Amino acid sequence: MKKIAIVNNKGGVGKTTTVFNLAHYFAKQGLKTLAIDTDPQLNLTTNFGVNPGEIKVSLGDYLLERVPEFVPEIVEENLHLISAGEAAEQDMAALQAEGPYYYQTLNDFLDYIKNQYDIVVIDTAPAFNAYTTSAIYASSVYPVLIPGINELNGLNATIDFTKELGKKISGIILIKKEKTALSDQVEEQLQQEFEGILLNKIIRKNVALAESIIMHQSIFEYASSSNGAKDYSKVAKEIMKKEGI
Ligand SMILES: Nc1ncnc2c1ncn2[C@@H]1O[C@H](COP(=O)(O)OP(=O)(O)OP(=O)(O)O)[C@@H](O)[C@H]1O
Ligand SMILES: [Mg+2]
Repeated sequence: MKKIAIVNNKGGVGKTTTVFNLAHYFAKQGLKTLAIDTDPQLNLTTNFGVNPGEIKVSLGDYLLERVPEFVPEIVEENLHLISAGEAAEQDMAALQAEGPYYYQTLNDFLDYIKNQYDIVVIDTAPAFNAYTTSAIYASSVYPVLIPGINELNGLNATIDFTKELGKKISGIILIKKEKTALSDQVEEQLQQEFEGILLNKIIRKNVALAESIIMHQSIFEYASSSNGAKDYSKVAKEIMKKEGI
């Protein structure tokens, strides 16, 4: 079972959009896919059309061992969801109170269900909180990045935090790229600085991506010939290759 976490401590950069569409793509390829929403905002959960008030078992219930069995939300065939649920903040505090190695619990839990899935895709909050720390520790780390100078500084914060956990970055996904000189310049700088880590394929700015989320549809369902669909297919394929799937 492969595990990937989509991270960036900046808000609104496209993490949830990326997890949502990658998870749909992997499931469409026949991979048994588990999406995990670790963000207390629960955007991924609602994007999948799951009402947070109706979540039976939350991520915290598993990590804090409040339930004996594994019962994920079924989004569709091959695509399951675990949500942080409405008590995410309290659950993170309780998890952290368990001791200095609290962040290894998610990895242990994923080990326990490893025969049930081919790939796990984890959405994270725009913060280095207890669940983001756990996700980074457990997974291959893929920051998403909007081309911009402040964003580049933010990327370094993510890289440093990942290093502190003894992990390295698996791949940087350039997202919401526009046809501007600045965008091109940042891409070039990234290619030099992160050779082999920056994915070759990028996600262009595409309004259909924003629209599809409102319709609770993946970009492949909403607008299969859009740039968004083309770009996410290519990025998903590149990630599968990197992960050895
Ligand atoms: N490639 C894209 N082109 C155009 N709009 C996009 C693209 N990717 C994401 N968006 C839009 O940008 C907004 C923020 O995206 P998203 O919610 O995925 O970011 P996020 O990083 O998960 O935010 P948060 O940090 O709050 O969780 C949304 O309205 C989304 O529809
Ligand atoms: Mg999000």
